[in-house]
Amino acid sequence: MKALVLGARGMLGQDLVKILAPEYEIIPWDLAEIDITREKETLEKIVKVRPQVIINCAAYTNVDQCETHRDQAFLVNAEGTKHVALASYTVKARFVHLSTDYVFDGTASIPYREDNSPNPMSVYGQSKLQGEIYVRKIGGDHLIIRTAWLYGPRGKNFVEAILSQAAEGKQIRVVNDQQGSPTFTRDLSQAIKGLLPMTEQGIFHLTNSGSCTWFEFALHILEESGFKGNEVRPISSKELGRPAKRPAYSILDNSRYEQISENKMRSWQEALKEYFNSRVKG
Ligand SMILES: NC(=O)c1ccc[n+]([C@@H]2O[C@H](COP(=O)([O-])OP(=O)(O)OC[C@H]3O[C@@H](n4cnc5c(N)ncnc54)[C@H](OP(=O)(O)O)[C@@H]3O)[C@@H](O)[C@H]2O)c1
Repeated sequence: MKALVLGARGMLGQDLVKILAPEYEIIPWDLAEIDITREKETLEKIVKVRPQVIINCAAYTNVDQCETHRDQAFLVNAEGTKHVALASYTVKARFVHLSTDYVFDGTASIPYREDNSPNPMSVYGQSKLQGEIYVRKIGGDHLIIRTAWLYGPRGKNFVEAILSQAAEGKQIRVVNDQQGSPTFTRDLSQAIKGLLPMTEQGIFHLTNSGSCTWFEFALHILEESGFKGNEVRPISSKELGRPAKRPAYSILDNSRYEQISENKMRSWQEALKEYFNSRVKG
């Protein structure tokens, strides 16, 4: 079975390709092979290869830059997604689209379910929500996977950022007023793989289980990696002063996924341990 992975050289895309490769004939496309902002090109190229599965990891993911590049964010995350969804509908593929916890405003106090109302506070979140709306409107065989706080071996991520600051012996300042679920790209890829042969449709929340703040995550990363003696200081989002507003609470409720797959996502702590093991092994 042919599976087209868009954004295949991104952090999640690379892991997905690796995990799907034994069972699928993978077409790993990134910006060099297809620009999803171009409607005609997207349709023509996808129709030509006629995949049975399309997984869209292509996105404009720099959350802060989206604030000053609103048009580009919407062009890629909303219009680009629409083009892929239309092409997917045309070739009757099973379409898996990646979305984000940042579609929520973070005012909840219990984990977000798929049917909770989104209310994004950032341009990134708004553009991703518009992408979701297009996917649902176009219909066809589709899944929208909302995930969060990704890290993986093949991409710039929070874990590596903390480790490099620790190695430089710097004081590490990390926000302690945003709560979420760090998620290992390998676990997410395995879960997506499990959903592909199913007939289920619509939105799924999918993260490693459990939650923490970025500060707690940083402490755990240092502990797990054996760094000692670095000063880690909790700060507020206001102190950090990032351009894009992030949700204070963006824990996603995985129960729809767990019920349907009969599989529980492991805890973020267990996943992080495996990330470090695989990092050592290479
Ligand atoms: N990272 C997270 O914490 C996180 C959390 C929640 C949800 N997500 C979602 O998960 C998905 C994967 O995220 P990720 O972190 O793996 O992203 P990533 O590493 O930034 O990968 C995205 C890929 O898409 C490519 N791309 C950008 N514009 C494109 C275009 N017009 N046409 C084709 N390809 C294009 C990028 O190429 P260039 O690098 O050359 O621009 C990049 O290779 C995204 O949908 C993201 O919104 C991510």
